[in-house]
Amino acid sequence: MLNKKTIEDIKIDGKKVLVRCDFNVPMDDAGNITDDRRIQSALPTIEYIIKNNGKVILMSHLGRPKGEAKKEFSLEPVAKRLANLLNREVIFVDNDNVTGEDANKAVDDMEKGEVVLLQNTRFRKGEKKNAKEFAKELAELADVFVNDAFGTAHRAHASNVGVAEFLPSAIGYLIKKEIDVMGKAMSNPERPFMAILGGAKVSDKIDVIENLIEKVDTLLIGGGMMFTFLKAKGYEIGNSLIEDDKVNLAKELIDKANKKGVELLLPTDVVVAKEFKNDTEYKTVSIDNIPKDMMGLDIGKKTSDAFGDEILKGKTIIWNGPMGVFEMENFAKGTESVAKSMAKSEGTTIIGGGDSASAVDKVGLSDKMTHISTGGGASLEFFEGKVLPGIDAIDNK
Ligand code: 3PG
Repeated sequence: MLNKKTIEDIKIDGKKVLVRCDFNVPMDDAGNITDDRRIQSALPTIEYIIKNNGKVILMSHLGRPKGEAKKEFSLEPVAKRLANLLNREVIFVDNDNVTGEDANKAVDDMEKGEVVLLQNTRFRKGEKKNAKEFAKELAELADVFVNDAFGTAHRAHASNVGVAEFLPSAIGYLIKKEIDVMGKAMSNPERPFMAILGGAKVSDKIDVIENLIEKVDTLLIGGGMMFTFLKAKGYEIGNSLIEDDKVNLAKELIDKANKKGVELLLPTDVVVAKEFKNDTEYKTVSIDNIPKDMMGLDIGKKTSDAFGDEILKGKTIIWNGPMGVFEMENFAKGTESVAKSMAKSEGTTIIGGGDSASAVDKVGLSDKMTHISTGGGASLEFFEGKVLPGIDAIDNK
């Protein structure tokens, strides 16, 4: 159980409430927001503060501007989208320094229930360094601090960790929901408990596999990393992606799963292609028949069906990482099929953020999932069993 103060444990009425959100949303070249899930997910906390007569001072990073003010990373489009969603004015402090005179004035002029958004915190070098000075400047704007940026919780930066040293603090509704749902899965799951892991590299997923082997009943492995596991089992994998230095580790993980009685399922067939592009020659082959001059880019139909049957047996299912190169239509079927099976499940279905969340969105099945995390890196570190500094920094109850 999380022992952190929540927004309901602190006094809001008449207070200046500094809220760290993760408004790091994808945008197209013209600066249009292409997916506003993270903004939508911040609404419950913002609306609660408005309803309880607080003054809402929002802050976030966007992208990786490397400590410099760059127009393409301005939060202005977020201010506009937020104003639409809240159906009220959002005062955007377009100041490259984030804090300072303009921000002070905007905050001083605020009435209860008003909303101010500061400029991108990563325009300041002190943000990523968790510099005390910058954290203090932010804190001086407010009376209390609420962290609701789950997507950034794995970072220890000035606006989510440093600032908590200078103000009474609490978590918002979004972080609470993420931790409640994913924490229950990790600590007290309804069983069978299974994890589906994909993505390109074993090296990115070692810690999560190690941690999950201790907890799950079944582990399904797809994505580019399946080939390192297949190689570990002695299969020839042609030109498929391989991390040679991780083959032994894959063997150890297979052994560990066996010893623990965890069922580790690998694909039995894969879609192979001549080149790494959509418009190329491709076919489905059994894993003992991967041609030398072709590369595996997706799981095959038999595997999709077997994974689907398995998923339907699960009572708690977490998924992180696509099964193939789902950005290319010809190699997206495995990922889509897993998304469809998850949607059919009557168990608790949890999607780690990032690529798996995009895949579920792409097939229009987001509302069929129990929970889609707003954190990519953050949810992965959560599944790895790591302490997230952005949550750790908050006052205990
Ligand atoms: C994310 O999108 O994962 C978070 O917003 C963190 O962004 P970062 O990886 O640039 O720190």
